[in-house]
Amino acid sequence: MSPENNHKEQTQRYYERLSLSQRAQHIVLIISFMTLVITGLPVRYPETKAAGAVIKSMGGMAVRAGLHRVAAVILIVLCFYHVLWVLFTKRGHEEFLAFIPRKKDALDLFHQLKYYFGLSRTTPRHDRFNWIEKFEYLAMGWGSVVMILTGLLLWFENQAMLVLPLWVLDVTRVIHSFEALLAFLAIVIWHCYHVHLNPSSFPMSKVWLTGLISEEELKEHHPLEYERIRREEIPPARVEVEPTKVGSKSE
Ligand code: HEM
Repeated sequence: MSPENNHKEQTQRYYERLSLSQRAQHIVLIISFMTLVITGLPVRYPETKAAGAVIKSMGGMAVRAGLHRVAAVILIVLCFYHVLWVLFTKRGHEEFLAFIPRKKDALDLFHQLKYYFGLSRTTPRHDRFNWIEKFEYLAMGWGSVVMILTGLLLWFENQAMLVLPLWVLDVTRVIHSFEALLAFLAIVIWHCYHVHLNPSSFPMSKVWLTGLISEEELKEHHPLEYERIRREEIPPARVEVEPTKVGSKSE
């Protein structure tokens, strides 16, 4: 690292973007989701060589099915924990409200598209979460509900068949199977691009590990949040104002 960069690193200010609880939830989600994908997709594509190799490396179909269920239980517990965190913690409550899509997100999306097509010279100025982050959060929430409900029906197929017609279980399997593929592709293509391959994050944004975002990154990616934090950070008594203006205001 050059002395200049070293100095910059030392003098850079950092802000907390993700709390310890949020980072822990994210890591548990990564582990459970990846396990579900690795143990689920071989069932969707049993004819492929990769499926055979994955199942063999796990020690067979019974172990694969067991791992799928263990990861499913971890995902279910995580979802319950997340709901409790949102309902009963100040941070969870605030974060959930910040994730709710608003009119500005639709306008930001059009603004971004205009920028991609060369019709705008600027990119949208985001607040705490941009429209991509909001979409990913809501898709993950909705996707988890769908996967858990359909997964439970597949898991307890015999009991379900006592009260549901066979076609419901057939449809359930199709939904579980396609939603799994959709979620896998969304994470691999969209999420990984934004947090790894995007030139401004490459090779990886470390926020999910440290919870910290540098002042520079916050200013660049979430300027509205940065400005709000700065306004709240500086107590009014310490704001430097030209003496003449102070005089004219008090008159
Ligand atoms: C995002 C999470 C998940 C992914 C990516 C995933 C993926 C998959 C895939 C691709 C299949 C094969 C479907 C087919 O084409 O037949 C499958 C089957 C299955 N999944 Fe999931 N799944 C997830 C969550 C869950 C959950 C939460 C449960 C249980 C509550 C569950 C239980 C099952 C069961 C019982 C099967 C039938 C095959 C087997 O016995 O393993 N899955 N899953």
